[in-house]
Amino acid sequence: MAMKKVLSIVAASAMAASVLAGCAAAPAAAPAAAPAAEEAKEEVAEAAEEAADEVAEAANGDLAGKKVGVCIYQFSDNFMTLFRNELESYLVAQGFDPANITIVDGKNDQGEQTNQIQNFITEGVDVLIINPVNSSSAATITDLVHDAGIPLVYINREPDAQEEARWADNNWDVTYVGCDARQSGTMQGEIIADLGLDAIDFNGNGKIDYIMIEGDPENIDAAYRTEYSVKALEDAGFEVNCLDDQVGMWQQEQGQSLVANSLAQYGNDVEVVFCNNDAMALGALQAIQAAGRVVGEDIYLVGVDALTEALEDVIAGTMTGTVFNDHISQSHSAADAAINYITGAGNEHYIGCDYVKATKDNAEDILASLQ
Ligand code: GAL
Repeated sequence: MAMKKVLSIVAASAMAASVLAGCAAAPAAAPAAAPAAEEAKEEVAEAAEEAADEVAEAANGDLAGKKVGVCIYQFSDNFMTLFRNELESYLVAQGFDPANITIVDGKNDQGEQTNQIQNFITEGVDVLIINPVNSSSAATITDLVHDAGIPLVYINREPDAQEEARWADNNWDVTYVGCDARQSGTMQGEIIADLGLDAIDFNGNGKIDYIMIEGDPENIDAAYRTEYSVKALEDAGFEVNCLDDQVGMWQQEQGQSLVANSLAQYGNDVEVVFCNNDAMALGALQAIQAAGRVVGEDIYLVGVDALTEALEDVIAGTMTGTVFNDHISQSHSAADAAINYITGAGNEHYIGCDYVKATKDNAEDILASLQ
């Protein structure tokens, strides 16, 4: 019996906003906040999980003989490392033979990744899970994989609305699993807004003076987190002043050097450092400390992902907060979607999940839940 997975469907229609480094006005549109009906959502998620478990159980014997190809955009990315490790162990727990799970490193090169996809097609895998190097190459990737008759689960880097519409219009076995990055940006802004202007406005100009360190512009997460973190401050009634906005490509070293430069240029006027992810925030923290500044005393710092090290910093007060990017739920949903294709149960074309704010109040709990 066909059993469709019904996880929360967050509006997937938003087009990729253009990402230009440099201080820009926040968007006028309202952020996609977390849906209010939490309980109902949990029930739906539980039901979906149960359904996926049943499907996996029914197919268990068969899964051992099935081949999964997994393409990751870049192994050196901290968050995607957590994601792929969890994905692999969950696939094994669901009954796949470890020898039939192949995970490859795209080395941040779309040409390399496209070759890897072609090799998987030649090998005849039963399903592909792809974290594209370039989301803008999704149409080409989809065509390749669909023409070969292989179902496809995109993860982490969302293809644009036009591409997603094609899957639904043609009823193709293609889906996307990920979170809505607008929510994470909004949460970052709220973490800062909750501190109140008096605590933040060290230079007394009545504004929140910030610098923004962005991830790879190829990833919509970078654009949305940049826009919606600032928008949340404005929505809370604050005046904002962007001192600097730079692209750090999700990487710690770049976060460190960019923030060091900004601090050298803008000095004590920098009141808040927004980083699109924790890796860059950890780099930012090194620069902040090297400049003799103290988080929580004369500057604030927020990231996204809830990497262990970042949560430890939040607990210690050396980071103001982060946002949990739930690699466990996302990797499990991706594996469940792959199984649903293999068993013929099928999937919706968008499978979402929620971010969680992480501050001193709950960082210990989140850390404990990850260990
Ligand atoms: C984001 C994550 C970043 C980076 C990026 C890669 O969701 O927050 O740390 O991993 O994905 O596409």
